Amino acid sequence: MRMGERKSRASGSDSRRVSRCRICRDRNLTRVIDLKRTPLANSFLSKPNDPEKWFPLEVLYCNSCGLLQLSEVVNPNLMFKEYPYRSSSSNSMLQHFRELAQSLSSEFITSSKQLVVEVGSNDGTLLSALKERGVRVLGVDPAANLARLANARGVETLPTFFDSDTADRIRDERGKAQVIVANNVLAHVDDVHEFMRGVSSLLEADGILSVEVPYAGNLNQNVEYDTVYHEHLSYFSVHPLLRLFSDFDIRLERVARLDVHGGSIRVTGRKTNKKFVSNPFVEFEKRCGLNRLETYQRLSDRIEYQMQDLRETLESLKSEGHEIVGYGAPAKSTTLLNACKIGAETLDYVIDTTPEKIGKFTPGTHIPIFRTERFQKEQPPYCLMLAWNYEKEILLKERQYTGQFIVPIPYARVLSRNSSS
Ligand code: TYD
Repeated sequence: MRMGERKSRASGSDSRRVSRCRICRDRNLTRVIDLKRTPLANSFLSKPNDPEKWFPLEVLYCNSCGLLQLSEVVNPNLMFKEYPYRSSSSNSMLQHFRELAQSLSSEFITSSKQLVVEVGSNDGTLLSALKERGVRVLGVDPAANLARLANARGVETLPTFFDSDTADRIRDERGKAQVIVANNVLAHVDDVHEFMRGVSSLLEADGILSVEVPYAGNLNQNVEYDTVYHEHLSYFSVHPLLRLFSDFDIRLERVARLDVHGGSIRVTGRKTNKKFVSNPFVEFEKRCGLNRLETYQRLSDRIEYQMQDLRETLESLKSEGHEIVGYGAPAKSTTLLNACKIGAETLDYVIDTTPEKIGKFTPGTHIPIFRTERFQKEQPPYCLMLAWNYEKEILLKERQYTGQFIVPIPYARVLSRNSSS
């Protein structure tokens, strides 16, 4: 076992209940969303009757700092040691990371000696784009399969969780980092204070922390309940992030809204010892009600309505005898299918481009996953777009499709045939 893994591991049990807020440690937490029990979102099955572990899927609101967080923390070893998701699985994400590599290198890197460390570096997509620009890079990712892929393409990657031990080891062996990137990983981290201790010890004075997280504002606005799953322990808005950053002397300098993953934010912080307590974005969040319990209690009603509406749309098509399939087997489809109770009686199959998912079955609902070519050959009359966050990319790619897509988020919509041509 590597040093860095020790602190990151949950105890031997499969999960623990949350009793205090992950950021401010307050105990005043109120349950706002209850999606009942689901299996782990990326635990695709080799056989439909393979054993599965199910856990409660509930979101709590912290009445003190405003962080939304899951009530149950599943042992990370059950979720992140082998990970089927690849950053390179869509053109949109490839383009997104190319642009980020361009802006990070031009804005923050001034010498070829400076180091960029990416935490949760996945298959090395971002770092390889940085490396092509002559930047010194190092990845950290606990998924052995992904670290292998990244190392094979020449992006040096440590197969471990990130914490202060890992950070100290990197610092001692390679020096401090000018930039630390954490894209779609902070929401996965239970002990965010330990994570930030690592960031603080590894980062150069005046160095940059660039974090991307799915945005609670989009979750609320577009009723994106399917982005709730056990890997996502926190649903961030800027206000709690600001508090976390300033506890570790990271000044939050910039917030940008992004389209990726159904709506994310990129927050850019700088290590400094100057105290910093506010950001204009927080005022915007107050106007949107993101700092109020009632906002999320209303969201819960909107989720119930939306799930019911999708179920009725699919039931009505089925009762008319139509075949329906699913497009994409993203992690979020595990929540959507299980919460709405949509199984193999409704969807004949789903398709996905990820090699690790093809030939397997969806968690909890046991729908077979096939290659995209099957869908293209069979042209089923209806197709539920489970990877709805790639709507534009999919409509473009499948412009020859003769059937109709059903997009489930932000509300169930059956697209007319010519929308996809
Ligand atoms: P994504 O929405 O990026 O992430 P998450 O798993 O976090 O919810 O996952 C998209 C999935 O959809 C991924 O398994 C790849 C698949 N996909 C296709 O099969 N075809 C496509 O054209 C696109 C864009 C995605």
